Amino acid sequence: MAERDRCSAWPRGQRLTTDLVIVGVGGMGREIFGVIRLLNAYPVDDARWRVLGFVDDYPTAPNVERVRRLGVPFLGPTRWLAGAPAGLQVALGVGHPRLRRETDRALARYGLPAATVVHPAAEIGPDCVFQEGLFAAGGARVTTNVVLGRQVHLNQNCTVGHDSVLGDHVSVNPLAAVSGYCRLDDGVMVGTTAAVLPGLRVGRDAVVGAGACVTRDVPAGAVVTGVPARPVDRSAADARPGVVPAHGRQDEVDHPA
Ligand SMILES: CC(C)(COP(=O)(O)OP(=O)(O)OC[C@H]1O[C@@H](n2cnc3c(N)ncnc32)[C@H](O)[C@@H]1OP(=O)(O)O)[C@@H](O)C(=O)NCCC(=O)NCCS
Repeated sequence: MAERDRCSAWPRGQRLTTDLVIVGVGGMGREIFGVIRLLNAYPVDDARWRVLGFVDDYPTAPNVERVRRLGVPFLGPTRWLAGAPAGLQVALGVGHPRLRRETDRALARYGLPAATVVHPAAEIGPDCVFQEGLFAAGGARVTTNVVLGRQVHLNQNCTVGHDSVLGDHVSVNPLAAVSGYCRLDDGVMVGTTAAVLPGLRVGRDAVVGAGACVTRDVPAGAVVTGVPARPVDRSAADARPGVVPAHGRQDEVDHPA
């Protein structure tokens, strides 16, 4: 990675206005849109995004309506990207790490770069390295010498401490705290308000439940909950991503008509 790409929360070398499509009409996709709107209101180096619309293979009618309310078109299924204009970038609005990995792989056929979207009130400290597709929501803080893999999602007000390494498609949910010297392997989800104590490793595709405090290494694929965190039966948790449609839920709150 070039030196100029280190120490920066902002994608370098992008054109002044970059076309963007958001994948997923669910909550995460629409949250990313909110950050994009803010970035356009307070542009850095005059760089702006032009959101062409949302695509989704499993859209729910309420979510399509919510997208319409945002004033952005729903373009159809992801195969819309096959005819995408040159220079287009894609933001993956898929919250669950494993679904995000699957979607990312499915979209690879289109060869489109993944957008890096960092809220103006997120902090990526010095000497950090990140790959394509980073999404950092408002209040997310990454301190120093942190390595972030591809398509990492850092949600509102989470923290990632010094010298930590996060693999591809990791999600750190709101208010979660990952301490220094931690390693989160590919596909890990750290639930809302959970804590991972210093120097621990959380294995591939493991889930740290909301509010848990991780005091020991977590094996790959495990689901841990509680304080201190202990493994729970994985079978129930495995059902969850299947229950949540790829990019949204029917039962999300809606505005009164
Ligand atoms: C841990 C987790 C993955 C378990 O999911 P699940 O297996 O579908 O869990 P269920 O809702 O079926 O609950 C199973 C049991 O575990 C308990 N449980 C669920 N999550 C728990 C948690 N975080 N801590 C402690 N207990 C928990 C439930 O109360 C239930 O107990 P019961 O059988 O005695 O009634 C999930 O609850 C979780 O914490 N996910 C994090 C989600 C998150 O951070 N979302 C934020 C998005 S922005």
